[in-house]
Amino acid sequence: MAARATLPSLTLLRSDVELRPVPADAQAATEADDAGPDAAGETATEPAPRALARLLEDLRAARERDPAARSWAELVLAYPGLHAVWAHRVSHRLWQRRGTRLLARVLSHVARSVTGVEIHPGAVIGRRVFIDHGMGVVIGETAEVGDDVLIYHGVTLGGRTTKRGKRHPTVGDGVVLGAGAKVLGPILVGDGARVGANSVVVGDVPAGWTALGVPAQVSAPGTRGAMADPALFI
Ligand SMILES: CC(C)(COP(=O)(O)OP(=O)(O)OC[C@H]1O[C@@H](n2cnc3c(N)ncnc32)[C@H](O)[C@@H]1OP(=O)(O)O)[C@@H](O)C(=O)NCCC(=O)NCCS
Repeated sequence: MAARATLPSLTLLRSDVELRPVPADAQAATEADDAGPDAAGETATEPAPRALARLLEDLRAARERDPAARSWAELVLAYPGLHAVWAHRVSHRLWQRRGTRLLARVLSHVARSVTGVEIHPGAVIGRRVFIDHGMGVVIGETAEVGDDVLIYHGVTLGGRTTKRGKRHPTVGDGVVLGAGAKVLGPILVGDGARVGANSVVVGDVPAGWTALGVPAQVSAPGTRGAMADPALFI
């Protein structure tokens, strides 16, 4: 989630917002998995200690974000969102080898049956991503999700076209996606942005901004409600 580019669209109040660019070659983005290591820098031979460290940081992230979590055992045993992310880590590795793609799909299907969360094995999911409640989340094949993202139940990171290539959103680090939010198309949700519950987002959301409604309108921090700072409108 490093590269950034100026993005002129969808700014209701400002026009100098920075976001990461959509990959120039959309088809290449879809086929990138064939090459092996993914955009998150993971490899199919990640050592076990690192995998365990990732698992522990997932648990910590979940505990920090869910005030209802009472114990580590509860998190390990009864949090479908964690189980879904862990299953995805395995299925994503299987997806990176052409010969095991069917197996990846089957594992993803089994995980969906158990957790209610459907993550396509091709999707790139960052570190410490926490899916709270789980049920009804759908994350498409070419979606990319950054680190420390909080996803509530019913969120869809979906496409708006049936054409191959990059067709799902890219979600930056530290984003919050409210319950039932639909984020559609190869759009960018910038770092630290928030998407309100049940909003339908079809355009870019600048970093740190909030997207609300159907279709979602974006607003800068402190500018929502009753003209938070009238000077912005003069
Ligand atoms: C988008 C969100 C992060 C905004 O939080 P916030 O900055 O604290 O904003 P507020 O709650 O103070 O609301 C500000 C305004 O936005 C409106 N609003 C908030 N969330 C909204 C939503 N999802 N859709 C439409 N309007 C919304 C409020 O009614 C309020 O309107 P007003 O200024 O006209 O009174 C939050 O409302 C949200 O949707 N979070 C997701 C929570 C979630 O999914 N929880 C599931 C737990 S199981």
